[in-house]
Amino acid sequence: MTALAAGFLSISMMAQKNPKLNAGNIDEVLAAMTLEEKAQLLVGGANNFFSQTAVMGNFAQTVPGAAGTTATIERLGIPETIVTDGPAGVHIDGTRPGTSKTFYATGFPIGTCLASTWNTELVKDVGRAIGNETKAYKCDVILGPGMNIHRNPLCGRNFEYYSEDPILTGRIGTAYVQGVQSEGVGVSLKHFAVNSQETQRVVVDERLSVRALREIYLRGFEMVVREANPWTVMSSYNRINGVFAQGNYDLLTKTLREEWGFRGIVMTDWIGRRTALPVKQCVWAGNDLFMPGQPEQSKDIVDAVNNGTLNIKDVDRNVRYMLEYIVKTPSFNKTTGNESPDLKIHAQITRQSATEGMVLLKNQNATLPMKNIKTVALFGTGSYHFLSGGVGSGCVHTPYIVDMVEGLKNAGISSTPLLTDIYRKYIDYAKLKFEADRNPMRWFENSNMGDQKYPEIAISQRSIISEVSKADAAIITISRQAGEGVDRIIDEEFGLTTDEKNLVSDVCAIYHQVGKPVIVIINSGSVLETASWRHLPDAILVAWQPGEEGGNSVADILTGKVNPSGRLPMTWPLSVYDHPSTANFPQDKVEIYDYETLKSSGYDIPNRDYTMHSEDIWVGYRHFDTNNKPVAYPFGFGLSYTTFEYGKPAVKRSGNQITVSITIRNTGKMAGKEVAQVYVSAPKAAYEKPAKELKAFGKTRLLAPGQSETLKMTLNVRDLASFSEKDNQWVADAGSYTFMVGSNVENINGSATLNLEKYTEKVSDAFVSKK
Ligand code: BGC
Repeated sequence: MTALAAGFLSISMMAQKNPKLNAGNIDEVLAAMTLEEKAQLLVGGANNFFSQTAVMGNFAQTVPGAAGTTATIERLGIPETIVTDGPAGVHIDGTRPGTSKTFYATGFPIGTCLASTWNTELVKDVGRAIGNETKAYKCDVILGPGMNIHRNPLCGRNFEYYSEDPILTGRIGTAYVQGVQSEGVGVSLKHFAVNSQETQRVVVDERLSVRALREIYLRGFEMVVREANPWTVMSSYNRINGVFAQGNYDLLTKTLREEWGFRGIVMTDWIGRRTALPVKQCVWAGNDLFMPGQPEQSKDIVDAVNNGTLNIKDVDRNVRYMLEYIVKTPSFNKTTGNESPDLKIHAQITRQSATEGMVLLKNQNATLPMKNIKTVALFGTGSYHFLSGGVGSGCVHTPYIVDMVEGLKNAGISSTPLLTDIYRKYIDYAKLKFEADRNPMRWFENSNMGDQKYPEIAISQRSIISEVSKADAAIITISRQAGEGVDRIIDEEFGLTTDEKNLVSDVCAIYHQVGKPVIVIINSGSVLETASWRHLPDAILVAWQPGEEGGNSVADILTGKVNPSGRLPMTWPLSVYDHPSTANFPQDKVEIYDYETLKSSGYDIPNRDYTMHSEDIWVGYRHFDTNNKPVAYPFGFGLSYTTFEYGKPAVKRSGNQITVSITIRNTGKMAGKEVAQVYVSAPKAAYEKPAKELKAFGKTRLLAPGQSETLKMTLNVRDLASFSEKDNQWVADAGSYTFMVGSNVENINGSATLNLEKYTEKVSDAFVSKK
């Protein structure tokens, strides 16, 4: 052999030993990896996260404030990738030590507000802007969308989720993911699955039927996985029928990968090493990445392979998914941004999407849009400390938040000076007091984890009277805050506080005496009790937590610059007890944030250690509508400043696709958009089905008075199926299906029928007890 040939040989041997990762050599890199390197890659790069003082959702050295990183393996050219929280925008620190440059991210509307737009194109635009900021801020994945179902209005994180309905959740989620990923970064669908409560979320066993699991809680995830190819999925902390989601083979492998065809990576939610759930079980089950990562978890993997309790094939399978993920990332491809996203353009997108998500609940005597109103008296702390989003990992460090004073001022309407001064000074005081009184154990109440709601102040009748002559109308903002770690309670969170009740009744009485209107703005991520006070004000607008442009978006609706077209993505009940799930939902504001301490007594406290889904599939309107139970505002409800006329719906089938068409005409005096909702009633089957279920929807463009548009809304025959546990299959019975088109679940404007033969689709025996 010549010296030259020998040289080549050793270079190529070296190349084989230390191949540098590229999209075409994943097999080669996998073959070159040591067991230790594989185990390292399956565990996030937080290193000593748990010994840090860092709070959850707030740790990554490369991008301060990002949630975590994956491991770097220099020898093989594997870079760190960075994941950051969402879903309402990029959660990173707005400022960094040693530089005056800022890193604020745009605060977009919360999930519930996005779902209320019922506008998938608009949500795609929001997703694109969020994807753009994710990349600009050198991150590879945004940890969202939140895809859990609003099982009950008391869940602390409902604001991050879309709806009580899986189809609306799936369609809005698909649009969000397509938008984000079109920018060349990834998403993480979370929290997979049935993470329906915050109380004891790391241990709670969600006990439910396989039918409810598949039809209600998994359906939205399934739609997004099948249609939008998400880069990652986040497995939730809780158990499902006894098995932790993170170590659940039926969930992560049989269903997610084998049935739905998922090709990305599954990462755990941020819990670290678990006493109750061995690492090797998660690896086997199909959980590819442990976040935020502890070196002990890598060691567990190495030990389990070495002692024969974990098959190296399972490790290799997960490592391959990791490598496939890494080669797609901006960090790997060196395409990360320059930390200067166009915040101005994104502010316009957030303003427009928030405005479109706002829902007008009441508008007596056409109080809105406001006419001849130059000055308003603004009541409620929320008017001056408007909440743009929720608390916890889902908060965003925004450059600013437009409150009601500023939003109205930008629209040429001033607020009365004395009241403004009183409230502003109170907010300054309340902020300081909150910081001083804060319980440091409640990490989600850290000022870095989102804005707090401060208690109302009692405004005396005398001071309301003194304001009445100075203002043309009164606006009362009722705010609610909620977030990660704690569920809401009924009194004073779902319901109004005594101070709020008094404020609403006093302001309404005094302003109405002189013929001046009162408008209530609900600035909350979730549902409130309205039945006891909604007769008092003239108008009620649900503004949700609409992102940084909040006050401007509200002003757009109040002044009529934008005609409201948001529709409720969940039922607003008369009483929270009307939801059957309330009987099995925590209501005691548990303070414990327990890293799964295994109690000696076992897991035996209802609604903490386990939660029975006795309501089964009867979640939200499926219960209210089927049982003719009155509600405050039905699913899909929302008023407009104009009126629409629906033509006669037509339904057609072509192969597996069903198309429902409807012509909608604007019969009023103002341009507006209408949301057409298609509810289907199925023929009588062997098992009970809801009276009607949402199967498709469409939103018109802005229709000028007199203008009309024909919407074509599609669904698949499979979408009509229910899950039959008896034989593990999706079944749509033969017979006549009624397709009802309406403006909400209670207001059907017309229907058409279609005869279908029986449809069945056999699936695996996942989740079915094998005893
Ligand atoms: C939350 C996730 C979040 C993660 C990282 C967890 O506690 O449940 O939603 O993405 O922290 O911050």
